Amino acid sequence: MRDAEPQPVRLADYRPPDWLVDTVDLDISLHPSATRVVARLALRRNPEGEAGAPVVLDGDGLVLVRLALDGKPAAGGAFDASPDRLTLTPSADRFLLEVETLLDPTANTQLMGLYRTGGTYCTQCEPEGFRRITYFPDRSDVLAVYTTRIEADRDAAPVLLGNGNLLRNGPIAGTGRHYAVWHDPWPKPSYLFALVGGRLAKVPGHFVTASGRPVDLGIYVEEGKQDRAGYAMDALRRSMRWDETAFGREYDLDVFNIVAVSDFNMGAMENKGLNVFNDKYVLASPETATDADYANIEAIIAHEYFHNWTGNRITCRDWFQLCLKEGLTVFRDQEFSADQRSRPVKRIADVRLLKAQQFVEDAGPLAHPVRPEMYREINNFYTATVYEKGAEVVRMLKALLGEAGFRAGMDLYFARHDGDAATIEDFLACFAEATGRDLAHFALWYAQSGTPRLDVAGSYDEAAGTYRLDVVQSTPPTPGQPTKAPLLIPLALGLVGPNGHDLPLVLADGTPVEGVLEVTQEKQSFVFTGVGTRPVASLNRGFSASVNLVTDLSTDDLVFLAAHDRDPFNRFDAIQALAVQLLKRGAAEGTLPPHAALLDAARRLLEDGALDPAFKAQALALPGENEIAREIGTQVDPDAVHAARRALRRALAQALTDGFAATYAAMDTPGPYRPDAASAGRRALRTLSLDYLTVPGTPDALQRALARYRAADNMTDRFGTLAVLAQHDSPERREALDDFYVRFEKDPLVIDKWLSLQAQIPEAGTLDRVRALMLLPVFSMSNPNRVRALVGALATGNPTQFNRPDGAGYDFLVDVVLTLDAKNPQLASRLLSAFKTWRQLEPKRAALAERALRKVADAPGLSDDVADIALRALG
Ligand code: PHE
Ligand code: ZN
Repeated sequence: MRDAEPQPVRLADYRPPDWLVDTVDLDISLHPSATRVVARLALRRNPEGEAGAPVVLDGDGLVLVRLALDGKPAAGGAFDASPDRLTLTPSADRFLLEVETLLDPTANTQLMGLYRTGGTYCTQCEPEGFRRITYFPDRSDVLAVYTTRIEADRDAAPVLLGNGNLLRNGPIAGTGRHYAVWHDPWPKPSYLFALVGGRLAKVPGHFVTASGRPVDLGIYVEEGKQDRAGYAMDALRRSMRWDETAFGREYDLDVFNIVAVSDFNMGAMENKGLNVFNDKYVLASPETATDADYANIEAIIAHEYFHNWTGNRITCRDWFQLCLKEGLTVFRDQEFSADQRSRPVKRIADVRLLKAQQFVEDAGPLAHPVRPEMYREINNFYTATVYEKGAEVVRMLKALLGEAGFRAGMDLYFARHDGDAATIEDFLACFAEATGRDLAHFALWYAQSGTPRLDVAGSYDEAAGTYRLDVVQSTPPTPGQPTKAPLLIPLALGLVGPNGHDLPLVLADGTPVEGVLEVTQEKQSFVFTGVGTRPVASLNRGFSASVNLVTDLSTDDLVFLAAHDRDPFNRFDAIQALAVQLLKRGAAEGTLPPHAALLDAARRLLEDGALDPAFKAQALALPGENEIAREIGTQVDPDAVHAARRALRRALAQALTDGFAATYAAMDTPGPYRPDAASAGRRALRTLSLDYLTVPGTPDALQRALARYRAADNMTDRFGTLAVLAQHDSPERREALDDFYVRFEKDPLVIDKWLSLQAQIPEAGTLDRVRALMLLPVFSMSNPNRVRALVGALATGNPTQFNRPDGAGYDFLVDVVLTLDAKNPQLASRLLSAFKTWRQLEPKRAALAERALRKVADAPGLSDDVADIALRALG
């Protein structure tokens, strides 16, 4: 709780720690309401710190029981302790501090520090949770070797897990308790500490590293869920192998454990040797998980595993460098999934997510640089910008340096910084040195916020045989950054000739272009020579640069690219660009403009037998309402956006009925369910076809969808057909929703899908429905997954109903946020960030949203987390 405005922390104020910790010995005796923690810290004055500085240790709500220095109980006056800080003024430059604290894990509803989930004890320490366990210099540049003794009741917690390797374990005679001692030989920051104690079932696995080290793998799940951990184990083993081949990185301990818990604020956490996961990203079976769930599990298992090198062996100097581990690790998990699945389809999905989340963030009041320079609450910086744009920046670096240069830079980074708490400057210096390139200009991507806009105009000179591109870049102002400088933008492109082949790219001075132009100035022209016929420019291929591209391509050009570009991403992008043009005009004019070209392009894609079904499913899915709103940018009326999109869906459905019917029949996937990308693609295209076929909403169409729902033998088809039906207020919808509930009432992760789907129905009754669903016993305000599935889905996945013209959607969210804030501030502030788009709304809604945000800002006793979002959103 805060009594004043949260104080800013600035990158410019970074100072090395005054004291270091060499070893941490923890003795933790688990008890539901009275857990005892004895911490022995070997403290040493840092020669690089401020001379004579006292020892100042962080705490957060701690209860101090006892304190000793070098084995002697500390007398009052020798220290100063509050729940949030411990200050000592020792006479020696090295000493052993022993501190005992008393914790109540059952009362910990913030899910930060030591808490309980379904009876299991677990910890979450990133970014500042370790200080809720014991007093410590809780910052990521203090690296220590940890040994952890965990003790617990044997029946309540037969499984005891810690970081590193197990040293010994056994019973404690005559007490009903037992213990385990874990030792992690790799120095690490406190945010990577973890322990788990509970009644859990182990799914075992095994891995032998490239150099022959055997590793025991374990995935721990709730008793009875073992048969849902197989895919996660498989994904883990594939990730371990991939990091060896793609980056030369081997695992470095004898064990690697993953624990799935049901109460978790985020997706998962990369604690050294002991990853803790939101169970939603571990558990999967054909009957309970969709293809998307399988893909997410694979990606997040890989992400956390990859952190072992990018995050753990090399960590961050301070939290401003968060993207050093997160952006890089997202890039690595994206590459892994691209290699395991279809590279173009993965890229399309990633860019869709980037635009839907990061571009939106960058265009509103919560915009911030990939590496922020100031924060008031670090928990609020686990954002799409740090993660997704952070990954794009690494991808752009690779586009500039090429495969070999990028790998050389990574190799140098691992070799030079192993064991370090590093910075973005350290990272970039490795690439600069390995390739001999000056990356000073490129580094601006980390510091400048906002999405750059790139205006590109092409002109063909038939007589001269030249094609000229005029490029103008600009970045709109963002909070704290009124003016912007030009960036170094790697623009991948091709000039496509009439036969669909790329023309050679040679600049007027004779330099050949290897597919990537480097745009460095505000205004620049590039003239290509030897161009015999008028080409069509295919720009920003593969989404090589994270920019808003504005071209002068005609409708015919886009239709041509959608059919012929050899870059699959740009085939997708061309058809999406056609759709966006129509939807923007449709929303502004209240009626759909002529759209024969889009229908034509869509038909050609649908009928192209050579195309991957997964690709078609992506290309033929219209941009979402949030995405259209962002493209419109100002004065957005969500109802008009919705109506335009509906009209275009209708037009597509009508024009392509035969094609969708044929595709629907052809994409049948008989045989048992398999989660691989090819089968998933067929299912996706089949459900998309069914969706279009159901658009007319006739009894026949609804009955066909309901029949498919009933016949489904896997969750992808069952939930896919349910989602189709959910769009149509009908008895069939009611029947399917009721059936789904009865089938899965006992399965919270599946119920989340059911909650989320209903929260996203674009009908006036939805808000009341959500309120009613909150009263069901399957819902709980203390479980983050439930809250996000229901309330989060309404706020971020249902633009017309969250932005109701009467403001009731905003008022509802504010009530939930204020109720939740006392319990779980992180969850509350994440929900509140749904307001990040309020400034783009038309004035009436914007005024209502602003009033709602003010109500939050003015509420007494707000957490720092929620106060920070409310004030920045209003700011
Ligand atoms: N570091 C985690 C990840 O991205 C995310 C996380 C942050 C989890 C903070 C919990 C708390 O892999
Ligand atoms: Zn991460």
